[in-house]
Amino acid sequence: MNIAIPKETTDGERRVALVPDMAKRLTGKGITVRLEQGAGEQAGYPDDRYVEVGAEVVSDTASLWGGADVVLKIHMPGEPEGTDGGGGRHEVDMLREGAVLVGLLYPLTNGDAVKRMVRRKVTSFSLDQLPRITRAQSMDVLSSMSTVAGYKAVLLAAAAVGKFFPMLVTAAGTIAPSKALVLGAGVAGLQAIATARRLGAVVQAFDVRPAVKEQVESLGAKFLEIETVAEAETAGGYAKELSEEQSRRNREVIHGAAVRADVVITTALIPGKPAPLLIGGETVRDMKPGSVIVDLAAEAGGNCALTKAGEEVTAHGVTILGPVNLPSTMPHDASRMYSKNITTFLDLLLEEGNLKLDFEDEITSATCITHEGTIRHEGTRSVIEGGSGS
Ligand code: NAI
Repeated sequence: MNIAIPKETTDGERRVALVPDMAKRLTGKGITVRLEQGAGEQAGYPDDRYVEVGAEVVSDTASLWGGADVVLKIHMPGEPEGTDGGGGRHEVDMLREGAVLVGLLYPLTNGDAVKRMVRRKVTSFSLDQLPRITRAQSMDVLSSMSTVAGYKAVLLAAAAVGKFFPMLVTAAGTIAPSKALVLGAGVAGLQAIATARRLGAVVQAFDVRPAVKEQVESLGAKFLEIETVAEAETAGGYAKELSEEQSRRNREVIHGAAVRADVVITTALIPGKPAPLLIGGETVRDMKPGSVIVDLAAEAGGNCALTKAGEEVTAHGVTILGPVNLPSTMPHDASRMYSKNITTFLDLLLEEGNLKLDFEDEITSATCITHEGTIRHEGTRSVIEGGSGS
């Protein structure tokens, strides 16, 4: 069995799918691990660390992909410039028929690559499709990456705001702590709350799921209470879309808290829907000049009306950051977490070091996108057959 770790070719990506410690776990089971030269370098894992644990370093990209039984990646394969000496060769087309690909593939928005995997008869698994069940928690890359993003969002806010986070008593006088408001208290939000608290800010948080109040309070933050949200949670623990009246009421209460805050971190998400709008232009207008919004939902449209994904906007003296791919800005630990999750997932696909796919298993079945020349994942099939997947 031969597992390949290519260098990520997505613009700006610094993470690697497998770190040396996890490579060691695989080589220890007699599995051959082949790493593309320099694949871990930007994350602080040089080639020699992989060689030390028994992995091979390969400089020929095409032979790495073509010789693999399993490829572990972060992003969906693409068509990087300059690949294979001439450029323009899609990574999927370098895979051999029947090879297995595991990554964070986002098949619903990567229709072209999915079709290529079908033609190539690649068996692909996408970790963004993991069911939120207890057994899948140790494989949950989305939660790991949201943890990184929640932490980093607070550091970005702290760097952009012209104030201290903690209260300081100095010879030059006493400085009041910053006030932070965190909207959405899921994985990223709870990490943002914890980080802002550790830095000494006074933190308030809001979520439509009243069930998270206790977690928010246990981190030392105040939960912003808004009535009429009791039915805002699905049986699976996700948020539901709110009625227009509820949304309006929420925005009013959020407005009141945002205008008193120095820093607002927004993380609200309803799976499969555009990001809910929590901060309108009028709230930004009424916020304190010099305050900062970090909108983690930027890529899904933003929780703030003025957010631009990947950009910094200044409006009415308020700085609005819409960072994308924050995990890549902390590539060392983000790769370590990703790597642990993907290796745990890989254990599901292996028996005594060899591939053994069990589609009766709920996790294997839910994450499998393509297999034996067909699209196995129902959601992906309906998007692609409906013609909106690429
Ligand atoms: P999650 O599903 O764990 O948490 C989202 C929370 O938002 C839930 O607790 C939900 O109840 C809450 N929510 C939904 N609608 C709301 C509303 N109207 N008002 C208040 N709260 C509401 O999601 P997770 O993993 O924490 O991700 C949060 C966001 O961060 C997502 O948009 C995700 O795409 C983004 N993200 C961004 C990254 C970046 O680099 N910019 C990296 C990782 C995640």
